[in-house]
Amino acid sequence: METNRREFLKSALWMGAAATAVGHSYGRAAGQACASAGAGSMMTYADKPFKMLRVGVVGLGRGRVGVNNFTFAPGSYVSAICDINAARRGSALKFLKGRKAPDPKVYGDKSPEDWKRLCEDPEVDLVYNATPWELHVPIALYAMKCGKHVVTEVPSAFTVDECWELVETSEKTKRHCMQLENCCYGESELLAYNLCHLGLLGEITHGEGAYIHDLRSYNYGKWNDANGGGGYWNYWRLRHNAVHGGNQYPTHGLGPICMDMDINRGDRFDFVVSVDSKQAGFEELARERFKGDSADDKWRRSLKVKMGDMNTSIIRTMNGRTIMVQHNVGTARPYSRINLIQGTHGVLQDYPLRIAIEKGLGRGAHGYDSKFAEEIRQKYKHPIWAQVPDVKKALGAVGGHGGMDTLMVLRLSYCLQMGLPLDMNVYDLASWCCLCELTEKSADSRGRSMDIPDFTRGAWKTQKPFGFEAVDISKMGKA
Ligand SMILES: NC(=O)c1ccc[n+]([C@@H]2O[C@H](COP(=O)([O-])OP(=O)(O)OC[C@H]3O[C@@H](n4cnc5c(N)ncnc54)[C@H](O)[C@@H]3O)[C@@H](O)[C@H]2O)c1
Repeated sequence: METNRREFLKSALWMGAAATAVGHSYGRAAGQACASAGAGSMMTYADKPFKMLRVGVVGLGRGRVGVNNFTFAPGSYVSAICDINAARRGSALKFLKGRKAPDPKVYGDKSPEDWKRLCEDPEVDLVYNATPWELHVPIALYAMKCGKHVVTEVPSAFTVDECWELVETSEKTKRHCMQLENCCYGESELLAYNLCHLGLLGEITHGEGAYIHDLRSYNYGKWNDANGGGGYWNYWRLRHNAVHGGNQYPTHGLGPICMDMDINRGDRFDFVVSVDSKQAGFEELARERFKGDSADDKWRRSLKVKMGDMNTSIIRTMNGRTIMVQHNVGTARPYSRINLIQGTHGVLQDYPLRIAIEKGLGRGAHGYDSKFAEEIRQKYKHPIWAQVPDVKKALGAVGGHGGMDTLMVLRLSYCLQMGLPLDMNVYDLASWCCLCELTEKSADSRGRSMDIPDFTRGAWKTQKPFGFEAVDISKMGKA
């Protein structure tokens, strides 16, 4: 699989050329050579326990999930914040004051590279990176080189080369590098995980996931600096979608299926094929909505968008399973991550939640019964979801995307405080995120199959299955 990587290093222009087209520049030179092979696996790495976890949050849009939730997680606090926007810094400070949290150090007022000072800050143990996509990799690398653990929003990287560099830096520095894939903590997703690991669906053969979310207005919207809501900062997402096809946001649908299938823990991705539909939704909206003479209007209505309305990719794993992943942010459709997992004896499918399990071998499961689904949902609730009422009682809040955001932060804080390996590691990040480049390359070449690198370098063969567990709040914050 090393060959794979070298091929991509040779095609360094892929990212660079595309990015230049709309002045979108990546944090480091595309194709820049990575460090030599890692200094030891991070597969089950655990650091010393942090009695009190000090968190530095960069990017205070989505980063507010970190700021807000760490005030509820005992034994951790936000020691630093960074955003180039004063209103967003102010709003986070006001929130922390309201929660009677310690005053954080504030960065972002000096330069767009002020995040470096946050990474260097000795009072930060964990960098929580929720910036626009082009900053994900540079901040993660810099944080690890400064000796900090780092968690990054989705997708945490976009090219095979970037994924290798994160893997190798994490191994060399012995710092965690985790992707903040909150959907892995969703209630239905963890129910599916439980059903799979209890064997109730039989042998798992196929999964389907997606990010289907109509983001047309948001992508073209003008950013409202006080509280967001109007669009993305500097149209960062539109600029990326304008120059990239394939699936540039694969992990919400894919991550939970990887947990169900124990990807990198007994199985791994082998290859992917991918096809884009034509582009219609974004350009139509821009043509119809932005008819004025302002520079913004002219830019938006004349922008050519490479992203198709629908990307469909199929991954095959070494053990012969298939995963279908879709990306569609440009058409009028209800939100869905599909969340389908199928085994020889049954299936769980979301949006809405449906479950069917056959009652005896070969007797089939020909219909869905909502009463049965509800019984299964209650009976096999994942322990972390079963404890939500207790968490609410103890901490006062479980919120964000139905609760999964809080549970992700709580579990992250718990693992670091207890000195446990994290739920997801840098190999998961790399295998999931390299699909941004590989799906685009496949879609650009009539669906040609693309090999997916083994970022674990063979360790997947002997790793134990995923081990998502509950959180013991009574043990947290006992400095
Ligand atoms: N997991 C999820 O459910 C989820 C949901 C929303 C967004 N996200 C991810 O979160 C990330 C951010 O998205 P968002 O919706 O908050 O975008 P946003 O545009 O609303 O916010 C980005 C923030 O980054 C700040 N910023 C820009 N350049 C900076 C710099 N150099 N230094 C410091 N701050 C800088 C901006 O001022 C802005 O406040 C993206 O990666 C996105 O994919 C994930």
